[in-house]
Amino acid sequence: MVEQNEHIHPVFDCILDRQDHEKRMKQKSRVFWLYGLSGSGKSTLAGALERRLFEKGFLARVLDGDNIRTGLNSNLGFSDEDRAENIRRIAEVSKLFVDTGIITVNSFITPKKEHRNQARSIVGESDFFEIYIKCSFDACEQRDVKGLYAKAKSGKISNFTGRDSEFETPDHADLVIDTDKLSEQESLDLLYDFVLPEIRLEDVAGR
Ligand code: ADX
Repeated sequence: MVEQNEHIHPVFDCILDRQDHEKRMKQKSRVFWLYGLSGSGKSTLAGALERRLFEKGFLARVLDGDNIRTGLNSNLGFSDEDRAENIRRIAEVSKLFVDTGIITVNSFITPKKEHRNQARSIVGESDFFEIYIKCSFDACEQRDVKGLYAKAKSGKISNFTGRDSEFETPDHADLVIDTDKLSEQESLDLLYDFVLPEIRLEDVAGR
């Protein structure tokens, strides 16, 4: 693997500048990384944010665990190693979007601080926002939208996050959305109000 990498010669300097893309898209491309337990509301919120941004004239793209794991990351499972690789690939893809002027809204459990830090360092400190979708294990288990908590309880799923695979609650997040307490609408408003100043280009009026 290392040997092969020695003979790769990436060319970046003939590719259009990121600022050119941002100007064309009339937005600043950033990565909003929503993370938290399965069933905490990440994907619902990510999808609702994408729609609202679209309605306001922005171009955003949601990447989410269940979808990406059926395609790009279909060879990965839920061991610590595979989760780290899952997050690494997503961060690399997000970086490509950033370079193309597109806003990325990610929805992945991203259970370990190490994973979050790795994603941040791949994307770049100033382009990356950590948004913790906070919801207790018990509330997620009660919602159990996909029926996975019941399956994990009966031993049909191993390495289940929050059960037999650890979720590290953050000491730091750029934004915390407590979906135990807030309605879907309140959560979306909070998220949108956080995102908007980060993606707005000063010289584009009316958004
Ligand atoms: S992550 O840990 O690598 O960030 P990711 O967000 O991609 O996870 O995938 C999580 C989704 O996979 C969950 O929403 C759930 O639908 C499904 N899933 C299947 N098995 C597991 C498991 N063992 N732990 C957590 N989620 C699982």
